[in-house]
Amino acid sequence: MTRLAWCTDIHLNFAQADTLAGFLQRLRATDPDIVLVGGDIAEATDVVHFLQLLDDFLQRPIYFVLGNHDFYFGSIAGVRHDVRTLCDLHPHLHYLTDEGVVRLTDRHALVGHDGWADARIGNYERSMIMMNDYKLIEELAGVTKQERWPLLQALGDEAAQAVRRVLPAALEQFEEVYLLTHVPPLREACWHNGRISDDEWAPHFTCLAVGQAVLEIMADYPHRELTVLCGHTHGSGEAHPLPNVWIYTGAAVYGFPTVNRVLVLE
Ligand SMILES: [Fe+2]
Ligand SMILES: [Fe+2]
Repeated sequence: MTRLAWCTDIHLNFAQADTLAGFLQRLRATDPDIVLVGGDIAEATDVVHFLQLLDDFLQRPIYFVLGNHDFYFGSIAGVRHDVRTLCDLHPHLHYLTDEGVVRLTDRHALVGHDGWADARIGNYERSMIMMNDYKLIEELAGVTKQERWPLLQALGDEAAQAVRRVLPAALEQFEEVYLLTHVPPLREACWHNGRISDDEWAPHFTCLAVGQAVLEIMADYPHRELTVLCGHTHGSGEAHPLPNVWIYTGAAVYGFPTVNRVLVLE
């Protein structure tokens, strides 16, 4: 039996000290063998600090991806570099975006990637939403909305390429696979305030490239099962786009990190 504790969008930089301590204790009390953290851990300036804190406190394997907030006040390349350096020094910390297929049990495996909202669902051109991403992340700031569009698509494509590489490899060997990512991969998983995101928000909330990869790959493996664990929208919900695919989107509230789900693998 393997116990997974999954949390997403914990935004630890926004938590007061006592709230943070309570969260860590509740997380440890779920007695997980493995902890999954689905991105938006903190910001570029302190994500390494908080990953170290999680490692020091939990003393067990932690598999994580990064979310858009983790790059705020820095760059995607810079944070990924810092996090990779950290993981090299801390054997329990694993940046899943860099990992291949992770064996959980004889039947279960884990794969993952940050993902990125790739502005392909909804109406990017008409959307009036100005995400902080577009001001606070080096690679996305200082360009026009039109110039930013291919950059967002390229980030989504990078995630999809990784999924197309690693997910079939996992399905060849394991009956059930978990995919940890930050951004909901399909519109029906794009929950926000109890509803599916509209055309205004969907471009900034979904990664269609990963969604298409998931649907195409899973159609080729009808006897295997995939569970996607994602967040980013801070709204909770479930989607079941294929008979063998389940997508859980995790709720979050700034300042109040929580354990989204404990999964017990037999
Ligand atoms: Fe978040
Ligand atoms: Fe996010």
